[in-house]
Formats: sequence, structure tokens, C-alpha cells
Amino acid sequence: MATAIRNPYLSGNFAPVSEEVSVDDLPVTGALPPELNGRYLRIGPNPRGSDETGPGHHWFVGQGMVHGVRLRDGRAEWYRNRFVDGGDPANSPNTNVLAHGGRLLALVEGGGTPVAISPDLARMSTWDSEGALSRGFTAHPKIDPATGEMHSISYRISPGAENLRYAVMDATGKVTHTADLPVPGVPMVHDMAMTATRIVVLDLPVTLSTQAVDRLAAGAPQSGDALPMRWDEGHPSRVGVLPRGGTAEQIRWFDAPRAYVFHVLNAYDAPDGSIVMDVVRYDTVFRDAFRGPADGLPALARWTIAPHRGTVSEQVMSDYGVEWPRINQDRAGRPHRYGWLGGVGPQSLRLSDDVSRDRGGAFEPGPLVKFDTVTGEVTAHHFGAGRVTQEPVFVARPGAEREEDGWILSVVYDGNTDRSELVVLDAADVGAAPLARVHLPRRVPFGFHGNWVRDDELGAQPGEG
Ligand SMILES: [Fe+2]
Repeated sequence: MATAIRNPYLSGNFAPVSEEVSVDDLPVTGALPPELNGRYLRIGPNPRGSDETGPGHHWFVGQGMVHGVRLRDGRAEWYRNRFVDGGDPANSPNTNVLAHGGRLLALVEGGGTPVAISPDLARMSTWDSEGALSRGFTAHPKIDPATGEMHSISYRISPGAENLRYAVMDATGKVTHTADLPVPGVPMVHDMAMTATRIVVLDLPVTLSTQAVDRLAAGAPQSGDALPMRWDEGHPSRVGVLPRGGTAEQIRWFDAPRAYVFHVLNAYDAPDGSIVMDVVRYDTVFRDAFRGPADGLPALARWTIAPHRGTVSEQVMSDYGVEWPRINQDRAGRPHRYGWLGGVGPQSLRLSDDVSRDRGGAFEPGPLVKFDTVTGEVTAHHFGAGRVTQEPVFVARPGAEREEDGWILSVVYDGNTDRSELVVLDAADVGAAPLARVHLPRRVPFGFHGNWVRDDELGAQPGEG
């Protein structure tokens, strides 16, 4: 269909792949660190059939597809990709895949339920923690590295759903605490922040558009209506702070910079009682461009929440376009110095939706970027002409003490060959040549999030693969 082909998020490496494949014994250039025993998993939307709503299609929408690369003892044992199918055709998480409580979980926000996936990607089933997550979950829960507890803020894309749900799960996946947090206007709450003692809720000016919902229901969707969230000048921009395990009565709201944040790099408690929260921020999203976050370039900023002063101050740390911020997860909720991110190219700048339609305005991935929050230094790893990455994942070297002692894993798309690779870099020296490149048998479409899952995180399960 001509209209679908012109949508940049259905073209090039944004386009879905149709086949599920399984390939063993992947060729490797360089040497894989033998300590990498586990699976690199990555997920994104892979629309098919009725998912593709033509002019209304939005990058964030469509059936999920998980891609996995199995590494063991310095070898790349397999690549597999599978549609996410937990038995309910209406529920196919497409945004994040991670391990918690011995389970591999595919996650999405806005009302979808997690889907548990076997380690060999062969079996899937909806998982809602004994009904506690049946109203939906989030793609960006925070796991405390000390306790294994998982904290989550969820919302539902539904008119009138004016409560956020705060849920805490223990290290086994059992929900131990929930609290409903009244928030008017159905804001898009993609991420949150966690410190060692507190939770930060993001209530920013992107909300559910009833007009977009109505157009979609009436069958005459406009650009981006498949995700009916829009920049909302009438909505406040604020952050809510509550103690971990807290309730609505304990939340305190503070005016925040007028911006949108999909992703928080990390947050921690400062000695003076403030919260330091590093975010990737946009001036606006879904105001000018509606198929993806292409109003303008995202940048890394530090938001300092000072409850004793009642203020949130912002310091833009770099004008380098970045997204998909990741830290050494051992530092989650604790002071961090380094972030590893995906660079985002200038093509995403200020293009109208008409221009986006002609391919130029897609959200363009770029190099791997390491950011030092102490010195402000940006180090980029360019993968070569026509070769770009998205979200990096930091994997700590076993026994490491230094924050940056480990590896960066990321999938690199090569436009010259129309295939992808799993590339391993030295996290402390990302400017150096890759340590290893695992050649995948196909391209991995531009998606959202991935994680490295060690074998010991999944325990002994049937279908280890
Ligand atoms: Fe995300």
C-alpha cells in the first residue's frame, strides 16, 4: 500500500521482518569474552497485517518481536527471533525485555500485561503476578541492585484512567505493595526514577488525546493516531516524589521544566536531601511530528529536585543528540558517573510531518556514545559508513569494582549489507576497535530496548537452549 510505504517507520530498517528464523553457530570477528555466558535479548514493534494502520501508523505500535543471541564460552551459539505471543492476540508487548524473579519478561506500557518467555524463546505465556498486574504494567520498572526488588509506575491508555499504579515486587516477582496515585489527564508515563530511598513520578505534558481516540475508532485515523498521545499545552509539567513503598498521601509534587522525558539514565539521593536525576529530555514530542518522537533532538540533562526548596533545576549536560541511556545497573539508584547511550542524528531535527512522510524525518539512530557526567566528556564510537546502533547495554566484568569495567553490547545495523551484528566494545574505552562482532543472519529492525541476561538469572528451566 503506497501510504504505508511512505511512512518512514515502515521503511528501511524500521520496516518489520516477516520470518521467524533460528540459526546456530554464528560467525564471529574478533574474540568474544568467555565470561559472557547468557543471552542478549532485544525487542521492538514488528507490525504485521492489521497492525499497520496506514496513515495512522506510529512507530511505537505493533506486535512485539524478540531477538535473541546466545553466547557461551566465547562462542555465539544461536540467533533466534520470535513474535511475542502469550496466547492473547490483543497483548503482544513490544518495548522491553528483561529478567526478574527467574523469568524472562516482555513488557509494554499503557495497559498490556507482561509475557513470560522461555530461555530458548520457544514458549510464551501471559504473566500478571497472580493477577496483581492484570490492569497492565510498564516497560521501565526499576530493579534495586541490593535487594532485587522491582519498583514500577504504570498507567493505562484509556479515557478516564486517571490513576497511576505504583507497584513493588520482591525478588521472586511477588507483588508486595501497591498504591494508586491520582493524576488527572492520562499523561504518558514511559519511565520513572528510583533512588535508594525514594521514587520519582513523571507527570509531563503528553496526554491521551480523545480526538485521536475518536478518529481511530471512527476508522479515519490521521498520522500517528495509532498512538493517541499528543503534546498538551494545557497539562502541567511536574515530578512527584514519594518514599519507596509509599502511598498517594505521601507524594509531593514539584514544577518541572516544560519538556518530555521518555528515559531516565539514573537517579540518586544527594547529601543535602536533593534528588539528582539524569534524563534524556525533548523540548516537545508529538506536537509537530506524530509518527515518532521527531519534533526535535533529545539531549542529556540533569534535573535536581530539591524538596527542601520546592524546586527542580535543569542543567543541560550536552547538546549531543542521544537516546536510550544506560548505566552500570549495579549503580541503579546510587551515584553514577558514566552513561552509555545511542547517538541520534540530526535528521530528527525539526522536520514537519510532511517531510517525515518522505523518509527524511524518521528518528535516525547513529553512533554509540559514552558520557562522563563529571567531566562532561562525550566519546563516540562510529561503526563505519552506513552502520548505526541504538541502545547499548553495559555488562559488568565478573568481580569488577570500577564502574566502567565491563563490556558494551549493542546491535549494529549495516545498511551496506542490510544485516545486523551484535558488537562488543570495551566499556571503559569505547573509542577502541570492537572486541568482537557477531554476524547475525539477518537485520534486526530498529526497536526499543534490550538487556543482557546471565544464565544464572534464569535458573534451571526447561527449554534452556
Ligand atoms: Fe523506553
